[in-house]
Amino acid sequence: MADIFIDGIVKRYGDATIIDHLSLNIAHGEFFTLLGPSGCGKTTLLRMIAGFIIPDEGRLMLDGVDITRLPAHKRETGMVFQDYALFPDKTVFDNVAYGLRVRKQSSSVIADKVGRMLERVELGHLAKRYPAELSGGQRQRVALARALVIEPRVLLMDEPLSNLDAKLRIQMRDVIRQLQQESNITAIFVTHDQEEALSMSDRIALLRNGRIDQLDTPEGLYARPHTAYAADFIGAANLLNIEGVSQAGDGCQVQLAGARFGVGNVAPQGQCSLAARPEHISLHQAAEDATRVPATVLHRRYLGYKATYALKLADGQNVNVDVPAAQDPQLGPNAPVFVSFSAECRLVQA
Ligand SMILES: Nc1ncnc2c1ncn2[C@@H]1O[C@H](COP(=O)(O)OP(=O)(O)OP(=O)(O)O)[C@@H](O)[C@H]1O
Ligand SMILES: [Mg+2]
Repeated sequence: MADIFIDGIVKRYGDATIIDHLSLNIAHGEFFTLLGPSGCGKTTLLRMIAGFIIPDEGRLMLDGVDITRLPAHKRETGMVFQDYALFPDKTVFDNVAYGLRVRKQSSSVIADKVGRMLERVELGHLAKRYPAELSGGQRQRVALARALVIEPRVLLMDEPLSNLDAKLRIQMRDVIRQLQQESNITAIFVTHDQEEALSMSDRIALLRNGRIDQLDTPEGLYARPHTAYAADFIGAANLLNIEGVSQAGDGCQVQLAGARFGVGNVAPQGQCSLAARPEHISLHQAAEDATRVPATVLHRRYLGYKATYALKLADGQNVNVDVPAAQDPQLGPNAPVFVSFSAECRLVQA
């Protein structure tokens, strides 16, 4: 267990700046996720923390000690690679024993530690198998056991679940989280899957072109995105151009397609958009008052517990709205409707 301080890290390849003066602090025992789309620099950043890539600028501190130039094998980090990178010609036992042998531990210590580790990941009965004789989920647990058995101070995982089928991915989230908590280890997890990030993490750094767009708890990132990028990446918010905004108490009054309504935050600096999640918009068949925006139905999709409607607002912008099945008026294309925006909708940087 360790705390990590990343201080102004820069990594360039040729003219391209891949990681751009990035700083962050990760606390002892934290489950920290690097989230972002393909190519945003997640693997590059993780590999710098592991010591496989040396940064061009900046410092990396582990428990107050500068490790920027320390070779990977001296960093006491355990790494789980996206493709697991198991040794195909070694048994499960020997794969997991590898790091202990490199560290010149005695065979009785190795037998004991590997045995206990394999029990923890429920692979004790498969110790003599080879990787080719295992399922994807079993291989993934071997990779985890191999990283954890050396009792690293930091566990680094690069999209470890991406090769698994949907059901196993969800099971393995719990396994990883439980192992991390039992060993009380600092973990850095890379994914481009927002649901994985929300369900596993203590905190998430949402990356955008080598910088942090927002660093927050899962709840903070979902409920209070600062940017259109964050609102769109996490939970697919509708992003709407607004006609005007004025401060009102702790929040704002927003003008949109001739209607006026309140939202819970103040407008950020510069150009802003309204981020409205499909579950934060309600569908009505009566105008009632000037807070409701007139719209027409484009189409309705039935999803069992809810229906999603695609609507065109009076000003021509499209929005998606979720309607719980019990309140679904089951309207077809061209039906005139009204929508209201709850105070949970947010003004974000465009
Ligand atoms: N050795 C290299 N030489 C040149 N460019 C590189 C090198 N390694 C990575 N890049 C570039 O750096 C950028 C970030 O790559 P990185 O592998 O960190 O992305 P990522 O966020 O992990 O993406 P993914 O989700 O697809 O794994 C990409 O544009 C990539 O092409
Ligand atoms: Mg990657």
